[in-house]
Amino acid sequence: MSAFVINGGRRLSGSLAVQGSKNSALPILAATLLVHGECVIHNCPALSDTDCTIRILKELGCKVMRSGNTVTVQNSGSNVFEIPENLMREMRSSVVFLGAILGKCGKAIISAPGGCEIGLRPIDLHLYAMKRLGVTVDDNYGKLVCEAKEGLRGSKITFSFPSVGATENAVLAAVRAKGNTTIVNCAREPEIIDLCDFLNKCGARINGAGESIITIEGVASLKGCEHNVICDRIAAATYLTAIAVTGGDVEICNTVPGHLSSVLPLLEEAGCEVRVRCKNIRIKAPRRLNRIDKIITQPYPGFPTDAQAVFTALATVAQGTTVIVENIFESRLKHVPELVRMGARIRTEGRVAVVEGVERLYGADVFSPDLRGGAALVVAGLCANGETVVKNTRFIDRGYEDFEDNLCVLNADIYRKVKKDGRKENPEK
Ligand code: UD1
Repeated sequence: MSAFVINGGRRLSGSLAVQGSKNSALPILAATLLVHGECVIHNCPALSDTDCTIRILKELGCKVMRSGNTVTVQNSGSNVFEIPENLMREMRSSVVFLGAILGKCGKAIISAPGGCEIGLRPIDLHLYAMKRLGVTVDDNYGKLVCEAKEGLRGSKITFSFPSVGATENAVLAAVRAKGNTTIVNCAREPEIIDLCDFLNKCGARINGAGESIITIEGVASLKGCEHNVICDRIAAATYLTAIAVTGGDVEICNTVPGHLSSVLPLLEEAGCEVRVRCKNIRIKAPRRLNRIDKIITQPYPGFPTDAQAVFTALATVAQGTTVIVENIFESRLKHVPELVRMGARIRTEGRVAVVEGVERLYGADVFSPDLRGGAALVVAGLCANGETVVKNTRFIDRGYEDFEDNLCVLNADIYRKVKKDGRKENPEK
């Protein structure tokens, strides 16, 4: 198992361009299944999750080439409609292939998706949307056999909760369905807009992306296109908290500041000076951060659950008490006991954490519990006294491209401790 070794206490400075969005790239890559011809996707982050998505595309008969951050997908006429269980288990977003495979083949076989252990993560809303579009679902000893025997047909889908993945699946299945589809109470995340922008460039007719009602006029076919994935707002938020806890002064480039409208005011509340110029965000942090009153996670445009862990790390060293409420996932405070090992004062009750800021954290051996929880431990390590070892980097590698290299460029003292035989831990295992 590999680990990040961090010697904390160095002030971050300089500038950094943020990677493309993982949560945009994955559904867009899945969407290429629906397209006849070639799709060229730029700004695709090099992550274990994108590698897994590419392996699924190849399994489903596509030719895929990666050159740097550009991925080219050539869809074949292949009719493979089953994702092998080992690939389904590797990541949660494998489930987003369901709508795309159904749109292409009219039939799909998947098993329960894997991913971070942050709660139950059921897929009932995904299956509800597919059923509304004319799909039958049979549970065959753990394998879900989904079939649109008479073809997909447009319908009205009303979600009880604006699930990101279920909205993506509904869009993917509806773009080539017969007739019109209306999706009510859909997710409004920027990644949904990016997916719909990509599909519209390919010839889809989707309206309302980014609002709570999306309408889709089904089309017979889609053609290839070139697309640039948007900037990763969660990676940006992570670097911003790392800069804040170290009293740093950094310009973060290539962002979409509008996507961080619930995040930047909290950094200001913590006493940071935040200046936005076009795609760049300059942040200057004080020596000691102020408390943030409340951090409450909500669907977009509310504060993102994916940024909760790194802001918890920030609150541990602020002056005063911060209350954090995790509303989206039921078990997303697993980084808390690890932060406590580093000297943080945190009490939790259910989905609420009360963080009483301390003057400083102390380096410790800690264990990354999931992707964003792992990033939070790195953020904590950057401002802790002495050496922190964050074990289990495979989770962090799912979402952060060149994480330790980027932090080193900003003057952090961090390196990856590799296995005894000199190899990096394989994040795909
Ligand atoms: C996506 C993001 C993830 C982010 C989350 C919320 C990707 C690859 N992942 O995950 O990083 O944390 O949005 O912003 O884009 N739910 C159900 N039934 C369902 C689906 C979801 O009850 O069928 C519940 C979930 O258990 C959870 C909540 O809805 O409590 C939100 O989940 P959802 O928005 O679907 O998140 P994901 O698409 O899994």
